[in-house]
Formats: sequence, structure tokens, C-alpha cells
Amino acid sequence: MNYSAAGYTPTAKILHWLIVALLIIQFIVAWVMPEIRRDTKPDTLVNLHLTIGVIVLAVAIVRLAWRATHGEPTPLDGVPPWQVASARIVHWLLYVLLFVVPILGWINASWRGFPVILFGVEFPKLIATRTPGWGWTGDVHALLANYAILILVGLHVLAGLYHYFIRRDGVLQRMLPGR
Ligand code: HEM
Ligand code: HEM
Repeated sequence: MNYSAAGYTPTAKILHWLIVALLIIQFIVAWVMPEIRRDTKPDTLVNLHLTIGVIVLAVAIVRLAWRATHGEPTPLDGVPPWQVASARIVHWLLYVLLFVVPILGWINASWRGFPVILFGVEFPKLIATRTPGWGWTGDVHALLANYAILILVGLHVLAGLYHYFIRRDGVLQRMLPGR
């Protein structure tokens, strides 16, 4: 494993917290927007969900590119290897979900014939409307978002709080500004 620095760069921190903020808004919109059925028209909230989702995907691409070119910081002294390893697994699963979930949502929006519009520009359809065999993408998108992302984020946040309050080892502070 090659470690590149003692801490996260300010850019890595900004991208981390930007994704957190976007996801909070995105989940609220997803839960408040009307349930999507066969005859649902993409109204304001549904459109907003598609737009924010594409922004999450774009930020995730930038974030992964930053990560790939800057590496991860050296683990703090004294953190047990199993914690370093499990953190790494959770981080990579979260990165994977930040791609898979929006892409499935986008495929499903295309399948439903919903236009995906960002700042007035309409994005291409990933599949043709009602392509047979692709209806499952909406259910899997919602399941992965509501369960996989939220459970992993829950574990991730609990781990951060454990480091802060119980181990008091500075792991949480590494993702905060000014370190
Ligand atoms: C990380 C980003 C995203 C998250 C966390 C997210 C989250 C969710 C959640 C939680 C639901 C289910 C709502 C409910 O519980 O009733 C949902 C549904 C949906 N999302 Fe997303 N979404 C994201 C990105 C996107 C993107 C990029 C698109 C399309 C461009 C999209 C399109 C849809 C569609 C079409 C549905 C309805 C699926 C169905 O019920 O068949 N989402 N999303
Ligand atoms: C309040 C919520 C959150 C807190 C307190 C938090 C805290 C942290 C901390 C302290 C680290 C650095 C761990 C280390 O030094 O090894 C970290 C890394 C990371 N977090 Fe979070 N996080 C939160 C939410 C999220 C969310 C919502 C996501 C994505 C869905 C996420 C994805 C990641 C990833 C991928 C890394 C690894 C970064 C890298 O090494 O490239 N976090 N987080």
C-alpha cells in the first residue's frame, strides 16, 4: 500500500463534505417526492432528484480522480490493523455505491422516459424508453440507496464517533478542516 501524505488534503475534505451535504438533500428529496408509478409525470421534485443525482455522480468522479492521484493518508499510529482494513473496505464500498446508485437511477429515468436536465442541458438517455428487461433498475436503485448506502454510512459515522469519544485518537479530526 503506498501512502502519500500525513493527512487529507483540503480538496479531499471539501469533496467529502460536499458529497455528505448533497446526499442529505438527495435523500430528503427522494423521500418527499411522489411515489413513482408507471403514469407518474416527472414534476419539480422528481426533476430535482434527477438533477442532484447527476451532480452527485459528477462530484464522485472528481473525488475518485483526486483519490486515485493523491492516495490515502498514512493510518494513525496505534490504530489496530483490523480497523484500518475494515475502514478501507467500507470506504471502497461507499465509492462503488456513489457510482452504481446514480447510474442505476439514470438508467431507470431513461427507461421511464424522464428527461435528465442539468442547468438547462438535457443529458443523453442511457437506454431507450421501456427497453424490455430494464424495469428492475428502479427497485434496485431505491434498495441500494435506502439500505446499502444508509447502513454503510451508519457504520462509517459510528466508527468516526467511536474514534472521537472512545479511542480519542484523532481519526475523526483528520476529515475536519484545519488539520
Ligand atoms: C447518490 C445519488 C442518489 C440517491 C442517494 C438516490 C436515492 C433514491 C431513493 C432513496 C429513491 C427511492 C425513494 C423512495 O424511497 O420512495 C430513489 C428513487 C429514484 N431515483 Fe434516485 N437517487 C440518486 C440518484 C439518482 C439519479 C442520478 C437518478 C436519475 C438520473 C435517479 C432517479 C431515480 C428514479 C427514477 C427513482 C424512482 C425509482 C422507482 O421507484 O422505480 N436517482 N432514489
Ligand atoms: C457525518 C457523516 C460523516 C462523517 C463524520 C465522516 C467522517 C469521515 C472520516 C473521519 C474519514 C477519514 C477516515 C480516515 O482518516 O481514515 C472519512 C473518510 C471517508 N468517508 Fe466519510 N464521513 C461521513 C459521511 C460520509 C458519507 C455520506 C460518505 C459517502 C457516501 C463518506 C465517504 C467516505 C470515504 C469514501 C472516505 C475515504 C476517503 C479516502 O480515503 O479517499 N463519508 N469520513
